[in-house]
Amino acid sequence: MTTLIAVGAQWGDEGKGKLVDWLAPQAELIVRFHGGNNAGHTLVVDGEQTVLHVVPAGVLNPGTINLIGPGVVVDPDILLEELDALTARGVLKDPSRVRVSGRAHVILEWHRALDKAREEDRRGKAIGTTGRGIGPAYEDKVTRRGIRIADLLDAAALREAIERLVEQKNFELTEYYKWDPVDVETIYARAVEWGRRLEPYVDHTERILDRALRDGKNVLFEGAQGNFLDIDHGTYPYVTSSNCVAGAVCAGAGVGPTKIDRVLGITKAYTTRVGGGPFPTEETGALGEELRKAGAEFGATTGRPRRCGWLDAVMLREAATVNGYTALAMNKLDVLAGLDEVKIATAYRVDGKLTEEFPVTPAEIERAEPVYESHAGWSGDLTACRAYDELPQAARDYIERVEALVEVPVDVISIGPGRDETITRKPPFGG
Ligand code: IMP
Repeated sequence: MTTLIAVGAQWGDEGKGKLVDWLAPQAELIVRFHGGNNAGHTLVVDGEQTVLHVVPAGVLNPGTINLIGPGVVVDPDILLEELDALTARGVLKDPSRVRVSGRAHVILEWHRALDKAREEDRRGKAIGTTGRGIGPAYEDKVTRRGIRIADLLDAAALREAIERLVEQKNFELTEYYKWDPVDVETIYARAVEWGRRLEPYVDHTERILDRALRDGKNVLFEGAQGNFLDIDHGTYPYVTSSNCVAGAVCAGAGVGPTKIDRVLGITKAYTTRVGGGPFPTEETGALGEELRKAGAEFGATTGRPRRCGWLDAVMLREAATVNGYTALAMNKLDVLAGLDEVKIATAYRVDGKLTEEFPVTPAEIERAEPVYESHAGWSGDLTACRAYDELPQAARDYIERVEALVEVPVDVISIGPGRDETITRKPPFGG
């Protein structure tokens, strides 16, 4: 039995979905433990593209059970849309392969409205949220007034809760933000319908997880977003509203820390960010554009162009410390092919002072000037490589330099979106 956590080491979009789908045949359970449909995983299997926002990316593998744990915030419309599409394609034969915690909180219409109203109100300082209502839904959870999936199954209690909440939310929406109110009857009718349709999927996911661990099964925990979007460890306030670090698995899925074996940090071979906030190695000129084009760097959830830049070892070292990575997976190495020179930031200069530590405040991070190390580039089509030795020497030197800087081995290298476009130096589940 091995438990493996796969989490993003940067600002999300590191290619976690591809790796989870690739690892899924070795796991019986795939578990999401935080975030919601702000995540977007693009999977390419046999040339067919699937985008998932809520359902774990392991679902395309017929042998897996996919859990949506208590730490996730669920937009039932999106979840049902994904379940319907997977059922229509014959991927899901019945509800048994997707189980949803009754403890997971529900994203409602007012959460989306408040998300957008607040972003507008921030004017020049917008976070650039995905507008999916994630922050306001976590806010209701933490202030102990949220509605959970299990509540959708109790129509009478649900009505009372919605009426009370709509009164408060409409006050804030209309009086403070001058936004349109939301309607109790519409929300209530939809919520009852969600409860009816989701009931076959609702389960005690912690118990399923516990049983799998007792039976010695492999379990894969699927992270969303990334270390630098974590509410505590990210570039606050330009972050999401959940903990994205490996430690969040324990609370968000309901499993003890003694049960965790391995943590795989996922990074791109370069860096991207979508939304606002500081980004020390960002390239705003031609190189950024080149990376965006070569890497098709547009958000899977919002379609927004991603900001692009060089790999940042200061960030990766910080993420390795906070998450306790036992290995790294480096995605999209193929995208860097064809550049004469590739760079890695090894330190920053902040106000003239050299530092190897990631700064705390957005202002300091904004002022951080990366200190770069330059490496020879490589050329050719990497997508045909299947073994580490088949990669060009310069690409191997780059990977090995990253290992030395971060002090974590790069065990997996992805050189294309397909399942087989993956090089394994050491299998993440062991063995
Ligand atoms: P929210 O999670 O929608 O509140 O957005 C907060 C910040 O996190 C914004 O900068 C988003 O662009 C970013 N974000 C949220 N989810 C993802 C993701 O899955 N990939 C990349 N960025 C994300």
